[in-house]
Amino acid sequence: MKILVTGGTGFIGSHTVVELQNKGYEVVIVDNLSNSRAETVNAIFGITGVKPLLEIFDLTDREKTLDFFMRHNNIRGVIHFAALKAVGESVEKPLEYYRNNIDSLINVLDGMRENNISNFVFSSSCTVYGQPDELPVSESAPIKKAESPYGNTKQIAEDIIFDAVEATPLKGIALRYFNPIGAHETALIGELPLGIPNNLVPFITQTAYGLREQLSVFGDDYNTPDGTAIRDYIHVVDLAKAHVVSVNRMIKSKMKRDFEIFNLGTGNGYSVLEAIKSFEKVTGKKLNYKIVARRDGDIEQVWADPTFSNNELGWKAEKGLDEMMVSAWKWELAYRQRSQEPRTKSQDKRP
Ligand code: UD1
Repeated sequence: MKILVTGGTGFIGSHTVVELQNKGYEVVIVDNLSNSRAETVNAIFGITGVKPLLEIFDLTDREKTLDFFMRHNNIRGVIHFAALKAVGESVEKPLEYYRNNIDSLINVLDGMRENNISNFVFSSSCTVYGQPDELPVSESAPIKKAESPYGNTKQIAEDIIFDAVEATPLKGIALRYFNPIGAHETALIGELPLGIPNNLVPFITQTAYGLREQLSVFGDDYNTPDGTAIRDYIHVVDLAKAHVVSVNRMIKSKMKRDFEIFNLGTGNGYSVLEAIKSFEKVTGKKLNYKIVARRDGDIEQVWADPTFSNNELGWKAEKGLDEMMVSAWKWELAYRQRSQEPRTKSQDKRP
């Protein structure tokens, strides 16, 4: 059974490809490599023994997208990861974010409609809840005004899918991710931010490795037990598995409604300082960090109520924070080591 994974060479996409292949799915990836590398398919081969087909083009190109669907008319489902995701950048380049994230979504949905493909899984985000009034946050919590164009693209995308589901045979599952971190246990795939990382865990691992001098902890005056902001960190492999469960659910016609939404989190919130302590404990490395001012646009605290996804999907996040940190560190070390080995011209040149 063939599944299209857009953005399949990226962080969450690559882990999902592995889990799909582990369950016997055939995967074709479309990616424009704007924030990932073609070599990822070799790493996936190293894990599963199967190299997924990779087509490199931009899904905002309507003709190329429709042509792709014409050539792959036996696709049973689509998992749509491909998107820009840097919150700060989206504030500076809103039109690029809307064009990229919305045009590509519409083109993919069009291609699916023209080829009678009805199963669609979408990468959404807990950012749609903003700072929730009640914690833990469940799927029925109100959607708050988006804090950034990036966040808005996720809200608009959910609306577009909802309307398309109403009007066409499309079926959709939107998965609202909390904070995905960690890496595959083989350390062959993981998170590879371009340049200076925005997200906490890549910044932690790069600081511990010596690539960054100091980690800034953004604010210790939040209304939380230790004053630092709280998030629900979830291991990327747990997250990836939920996508496979979602695809199965659609293909086996187990959906209760034609558009379903699920929180993907562990249900546990950890502060920035707790995340740092966990990292230090499991790696034995002392992190150089200092408390600085809050980061614009950050919310104080959010963690998931995963009850609905646990019950409905029969899925549960299994890995704890320590395990997430170990795998993130193992990946950082392995990636840096590989980068120092003699390389060919085509290989990645990132710092
Ligand atoms: C953000 C977005 C989320 C998006 C995700 C993907 C918001 C509210 N959330 O998550 O929608 O899907 O990025 O990129 O915009 N921190 C530090 N120092 C650092 C980096 C982070 O203290 O150097 C803190 C942050 O203030 C935050 C926590 O660590 O409290 C997690 O930050 P991060 O990893 O960037 O994720 P979010 O901001 O939660």
